[in-house]
Amino acid sequence: MNFAVTPHASPVPADVRSKTLEDPGFGRVFSDHMVTLRWSKERGWHDGKVAARQPFAIDPASSVLHYAQEIFEGMKAYRTAKGELVLFRPDMNAARFARSAERLAMPVLPEATFVEAVEALVRIDKDWVPSGAGSLYLRPFMFASEAFLGVRPALEYIFCVIACPVGPYFKGGDKPLKLWVSDNYTRAAPGGTGAAKCGGNYAASLIAQAEAATHGCDQVVFLDAAEHRWVEELGGMNLFFVMNDGSIVTPPLTGTILPGITRDSIIQIARGLGLQVKEAPYSMDQWRSDAQSGKLSEAFACGTAAVVASIGEIVSSSGTIRVGNGAGPVAQKLKEQLIGVQRGSVADAHGWVRRV
Ligand code: PLP
Ligand code: COI
Repeated sequence: MNFAVTPHASPVPADVRSKTLEDPGFGRVFSDHMVTLRWSKERGWHDGKVAARQPFAIDPASSVLHYAQEIFEGMKAYRTAKGELVLFRPDMNAARFARSAERLAMPVLPEATFVEAVEALVRIDKDWVPSGAGSLYLRPFMFASEAFLGVRPALEYIFCVIACPVGPYFKGGDKPLKLWVSDNYTRAAPGGTGAAKCGGNYAASLIAQAEAATHGCDQVVFLDAAEHRWVEELGGMNLFFVMNDGSIVTPPLTGTILPGITRDSIIQIARGLGLQVKEAPYSMDQWRSDAQSGKLSEAFACGTAAVVASIGEIVSSSGTIRVGNGAGPVAQKLKEQLIGVQRGSVADAHGWVRRV
C-alpha cells in the first residue's frame, strides 16, 4: 500500500515533547501524526496518507454515529535499551483486527497493510517513543463513514492509526488491584461480540465500571451472561489464577472474551518456565473459596495497556475477599520476562519482536 507522507508543518517543539514524555499518563497526549486509509465498495482500500494529526470532517449521518460499526486495536512500540524501536507481535493485532472486522461486517484490511500503517506512524513519530519504562501506545481503528441511516453494513469506511506516549495504565502504579464483581451487568453473551475488539463492547461496560468506581474499585470482573457464575475477564484485561501448587488457570476462549495477545504470551512464557497452565472455566464461587482456603495464592490481570497487574481484593455485594497477600511473585516473574522480551533484555525465543 502506498501511503503519501506529508510531515506536520509545525510539530510539537522538542522541548515541550520531552517534558510531556516525562509523565505522559495514559491516553491524554498524542503524537504529531496520524495514518489514514479509506475503503469504498467501488474502490476498495485507497487514499493512504501519513499526515498531521487532525480532526475528521464526517457527515452527521455517518453510520458509526448511529449504529456503532467500529473496531480498534491496542498495541505498543518500545524503545529497547540499545535504542532500537520495536513492536511486539504486531501480526497478532493485525489478525485480531481482521477477525473483529469480519464480526462487525466490515471490510478486512490485509494484515500486511495493517502492520505497514502502524510502522509508518512509529517511523514518523519515532521521537514520541519514550525511553525507560514508558512506551508509545498505538491505536489502529476503523469506522463506518458512509452517510446512510438504513441498517446494513456501510459501504464506506475510514481506517486510522493514532499514537500516544504512555506511562502506567493505573494511577496507583504497581499497587494490587481492587476488583468489583457486578451483580447487575454482563459484558458479552454467546453469539455476541465479546471476542471482537469493537467500541460497543466498551460502551456497554462503562456503567459497570462506574459502579466499580463508586465502590472504590479499579476494574470490573465480568461473569458469563447465561449462568452469571463463570469468571470471564475484566473490562480491558484477561485474568489468571495461580494456585498454591504453582499451577495456573485462565478462562478458556469460548467466544465471549477477548483473545488477549498478552494472555497468549503469558501462557507461552509460563509454560516455558515449566509451569503448568490450564485454560479451564473458573467460577466466582471457586475464586471465593480458593482465596479463603489459601489454595489460590495469586490472581493477576494482563493486557497491553496494563501489562501485568496483581489483584489484591475482590469486592461484591456479598463482601470483600483478599487474594493472597497481593505481592504476587509469580505475576512479577512473568511480567519481568514479558517486559524483558519486549525491551530486548530477555532472549526473544519465539520471534515475537519486530524491529521498525
Ligand atoms: N480483554 C479486553 C476486554 C481488552 O480490552 C483487552 C485489551 O486489549 C484485553 C483483554 C487484553 O488484550 P491484549 O493483551 O491483546 O491487549
Ligand atoms: C489495551 O490494553 O490495549 C486496551 O485496549 C485496554 C483499554 C485501554 C481499552
